Order: sequence, then structure tokens, then C-alpha cells
Amino acid sequence: MERTKTTILGLQNKKARGEKITMLTAYDYSTASMIDEVGVDTILVGDSLGMVVLGYDSTVPVTMEEMLHHAKAVRRGVKFAFIIGDMPFMSYNVSREEAIRNAGRFIKEAGCDAVKLEGGTEMAAVVKAVVEAGIPVCGHIGLTPQTATKLSGFRVQGKDDKTARALVQSARDLDEAGAFMLVLEMVPEAIAAEISRAVAMPTIGIGAGPGCDGQVLVTNDLLGLYERFVPRFVKQYLKLAPMIKDALSTYVSDVRAGVFPGPEHTFKSSS
Ligand code: KIV
Repeated sequence: MERTKTTILGLQNKKARGEKITMLTAYDYSTASMIDEVGVDTILVGDSLGMVVLGYDSTVPVTMEEMLHHAKAVRRGVKFAFIIGDMPFMSYNVSREEAIRNAGRFIKEAGCDAVKLEGGTEMAAVVKAVVEAGIPVCGHIGLTPQTATKLSGFRVQGKDDKTARALVQSARDLDEAGAFMLVLEMVPEAIAAEISRAVAMPTIGIGAGPGCDGQVLVTNDLLGLYERFVPRFVKQYLKLAPMIKDALSTYVSDVRAGVFPGPEHTFKSSS
């Protein structure tokens, strides 16, 4: 069957049919093209950009300009996947008007299909306002990295009954507000599965177990490219960083030994 562009309806149909949805992060043209080529449904231009590409200690310093710059590069590499731009900290928290304006920039300037923002019940009114402005919104609850300090660090959320009930309520409120999809990060698998059954929108887990409607990983983690910290929920399909360092060292010794460039890399004058 000829491949067509992923749509929100297509994602909802996958949930209805029990087919798992795939999502990966991308921040540049080349990686986005490869992710699109292998058939991933949705690409998140995550604010994890701040840590794995820009070298910040957290996602908090990431700006709208940085996100837009990378989202535009991803857009140029993608034909079929549904692209979601991650709204950086404080780009949607001050007022609904500012949230709509910044969400609109991801769509108009970067060519994203939708935006993602962090927060549950307390952000439902903002989600509703952005959706009513015509912009699809993906929610994100559980561990919300932008406010990790408030949560006392990068910890599993919803471990006791009270916090688990609050997560389920948040998911219901975001569903009601019109979010089209929901990321569940570092949530016990039973709670993630309960949320996935309770809401109409597809859920995408990261550290939330197999009961979600789909899965997302940070691509640099999956490829073993970011060596600073590897969360327990990451499956490393490659250990790319040592392979890259190996190739770079070989280049350095080739140049120093006069082995590179060889005759096949060298031009001769015609005379
Ligand atoms: O920024 C990001 O990459 C994310 C994913 C971890 C879901 O929010």
C-alpha cells in the first residue's frame, strides 16, 4: 500500500485497532530523514534538544528561537511523519494569549503539524485555548522535565494512590480539553495502562510500560550517542558514541601518518 502522511485520524484509528504508535525525537535534517524513511509515525522535536544537542544541564534554558531553528531543519527532512514541536519552558505558562502565539509559530514558521506542552489539570485551560485556535496539542504528564525541580528530581510519578488518582484525573482533563495525544513519562505501568483505557486520545509512553498505545524514546539515547546519563527506561539499540570516537581517532592518526588523503581523494591538474 502506498504510504501517506500520518494524520490525527490515522493515529486514532491505530489506537482503535490496537496497533502500536511509534514516536522518536529528531533535531536535524539528516536524522529526521532517516526516521521518516523507516516509517516512524510521529517525530517529536523535543526540548531534550537542550540537553542532547545544545549541552545544557536541563531543558529549562531552551528558547523558542532554538526550538524553531531545529524544527525547521526537521521539517525539511520529513515527508510522511506527523511532526510535533515541543513548547519550551515559559513559552506557554504566562498567559493563554502567549501560548497561542508561540504555538502558532511552530505551525506557521517551522511547519510543524502540532505542539506538545507539559502539565496536567492545571494546564487544561491552556490546552483548550490552543486547540480552539486551531492548533493540535499533545499533552505530557507524569515526570515533566521542565518542572523536575518542583517534583524533587527525575523520579517515577504516581507511585501512591493519591498521586496516581491525580494523574488519571489530569489525563481525563486533557482529553476533555481536546488534546489529540498524551505522553506519559516515568509512570508505573499499571497506572499508564489504566490511563490508556480511560482516555479517547492515544497515549505514548516513555518509561511507562507496554500498556500505552505507543512508545517514544529520545533518538540520541536509543543510538547511544548521549553518554552523560542513560535513564533506566532507555533501550540502547546501538552504542554509537564509542564507534564515532574510534572513527575520529583513526582520521587523526591517518592525517598525522600521511595516509589520508590518498590518491583516490586527490585531484591532478590536466596539464
Ligand atoms: O523533549 C523530549 O524529548 C520529550 C520526550 C522525552 C517525550 O519530551
